[in-house]
Amino acid sequence: MDVDQGHGVSELFKAQCHLYKHIYYFIESMSLKCAVQLGIPDLIQKNNQPITLQQLVSALNFPESRANFLQRLMRVLVHSGIFDTIKIHDNQEEVEEGYVLTSSSKLLLKDSPTSLSPVVLTMLDPVLMNPWFSLGEWIQGKERTPFETYHGMSFGEYGKRNFKFINNLNEGMASDSKLVSLVVKEHKEIFESVDSLVDVGGGTGTLARSIADAYPHMKCTVLDLPQVVANLPESENLKFVGGDMFKSIPSADAIIIKSVLLNWSDEDCIMILKRCREAIPSKDDGGKLVLIEMVINDQKDEQELTKTRLFVDMEMMLLCNGRGRNEIEWKKLFLEAGFSHYKITATSGLNSIFEVYP
Ligand SMILES: C[S@@+](CC[C@H](N)C(=O)[O-])C[C@H]1O[C@@H](n2cnc3c(N)ncnc32)[C@H](O)[C@@H]1O
Repeated sequence: MDVDQGHGVSELFKAQCHLYKHIYYFIESMSLKCAVQLGIPDLIQKNNQPITLQQLVSALNFPESRANFLQRLMRVLVHSGIFDTIKIHDNQEEVEEGYVLTSSSKLLLKDSPTSLSPVVLTMLDPVLMNPWFSLGEWIQGKERTPFETYHGMSFGEYGKRNFKFINNLNEGMASDSKLVSLVVKEHKEIFESVDSLVDVGGGTGTLARSIADAYPHMKCTVLDLPQVVANLPESENLKFVGGDMFKSIPSADAIIIKSVLLNWSDEDCIMILKRCREAIPSKDDGGKLVLIEMVINDQKDEQELTKTRLFVDMEMMLLCNGRGRNEIEWKKLFLEAGFSHYKITATSGLNSIFEVYP
């Protein structure tokens, strides 16, 4: 690049800013985590009206000397769209700003049934963050994942030895499932003729429970690892089965799988999908697989969604040698596992709902 020309110099500074932004991207994540740890979204909500910096300082029981730090934390979070500010007037008619929630921070309220606070705290836990420092070493090495390079054991093994961590992760997944349940309930046509359903890798049953409640005639079963489903409360039309989806899946009219296949390699996915195929009747007899997973669409998608999906893909690579897939890659897996065709019924947020037929 010719830096002697004005245009070249401005390009150079643009590139410098671009790189600095990427160097400091982690500050957005860490500031978000700090706000959740401090319970700031709930304090704003509790205030019932825009909360001033001074009010926030006293609600947090911070000494006045910390106000300046809090103001800078909030400024970054307002800039990222996590919070917003609006102008308010105090008694002396002086103009002052107050912090308010945005749609994003409303999703962080602890008591909201769709709270994503547990996801923030779990995904930004040092256990999952530290392996990022091993990415380069891992790429040149032999371990399956950067998680293994850093921790000296697989993610699954770590989970077996650290119940508390895995419980937090399950809590995080459950809050994500509550959000997805809203979309599933909107698409009643998917479940119209389904009398029995198995949620494979269904965790603690958040999604299956909401389907069982919405369709009381349907017999729902959650299949997950024995340690995950032990002692979970069952109901009239919801039961839990401990097992291994690679070996056998209980028979049903339909199988549902959400956020499971992205954890696994193509070979593993084909094996799981074959077990699903064996567990359902033919299409004419109403058999189908309902898949709720992310589809990477870097050609047509909105930039921000694609970026988030690419981040999720990298996180899966880091943790468990899993991956995000585009539609062609999904289709290849379905066909190799013995399914004949599919349709994408809906796309909401990061996930799409596929109906896949034998
Ligand atoms: C990312 S979580 C998804 C949980 C749930 N579907 C959701 O979206 O909230 C993956 C789930 O797969 C389960 N899992 C892993 N290996 C399994 C296996 N071999 N058989 C059955 N479930 C398994 C895990 O215990 C975990 O609950």
